[in-house]
Amino acid sequence: MRNFTCVNDIGPLDKAVAEALEVKSNRFAYKHLGENRTLMMIFFNSSLRTRLSTQKAAMNLGMNVIVLDVNQGAWKLETERGVIMDGDKPEHLLEAIPVMGCYCDVIGVRSFARFESKEDDYQEKVINQFIRYSGRPVFSMEAATRHPLQSFADLITIEEHKTKSRPKVVMTWAPHPKALPQAVPNSFAEWMNATDYDFVITHPHGYELDPAFVGRATVEYDQDKALAGADFVYAKNWSAYADPNYGKVLSTDRAWTVTAEKMALTDNAFFMHCLPVRRNMIVTDDVIEGPRSLVIPEAANREISAQVVLKRILQDL
Ligand code: CP
Repeated sequence: MRNFTCVNDIGPLDKAVAEALEVKSNRFAYKHLGENRTLMMIFFNSSLRTRLSTQKAAMNLGMNVIVLDVNQGAWKLETERGVIMDGDKPEHLLEAIPVMGCYCDVIGVRSFARFESKEDDYQEKVINQFIRYSGRPVFSMEAATRHPLQSFADLITIEEHKTKSRPKVVMTWAPHPKALPQAVPNSFAEWMNATDYDFVITHPHGYELDPAFVGRATVEYDQDKALAGADFVYAKNWSAYADPNYGKVLSTDRAWTVTAEKMALTDNAFFMHCLPVRRNMIVTDDVIEGPRSLVIPEAANREISAQVVLKRILQDL
């Protein structure tokens, strides 16, 4: 593997999951792969899980790790070419990227959608510049339109807990006070569409995702109908995708919050969320703390998804 930005980069999912379970059963078996290799993790945005799980995965593989928070301690970076740099950004990304590439063997990048331009966000300008100019393998630690390490961890978690060969997985929009990117729901949809699961997306009118990510999913605007018979409920907020409302909050309707009453409509479904989660906006305390909540196993599997990706990158260096 050279770069990892989407589901297509991982190859057949059955093989990827089998490899993940093998790594999970003996996470230090490949420690030799990372000897004298350095991972640089570059964060344009905050993180708890991605930062810790990816660093742990790299350590399991014997790598050295450098973490750079671009907005804390580094020069502010200009990202647009052609800009007259007379403002508060003293360094351009086009010099910074190859410089960072000099100090490492592999680069992980976290760079969220900025909501300044839908075109720029959906062209993945920042991570694509790293792929083009760093000279190193690059993997996404959540980019503008996808969060593939999260989706891979979600898939591993579903495979570990499913009791039917073809479970019903429902991704439901839930309310949140701030505008969030579409990266997690896009990516989860993309990975679910690559399985043979019964996959349903439910959200209020106005929150339609990019059809390229919706794919073969059934879209149901009635949340109660969507949840009927579900085996897994994946809750997430996202902002509007469609113009002219791109990046906007259209509703904070708490009738969409995942409650015990909503979960009672399902087939004793597991509850999933990528975290961080706003309790009693997205999901009630009793559901997230309940015996069917998978939020902690999902987070634990972030170490495993990162380790499979890093292992494959190191094997192809
Ligand atoms: N789920 C996830 O990516 O968490 P962080 O934003 O804390 O990394």
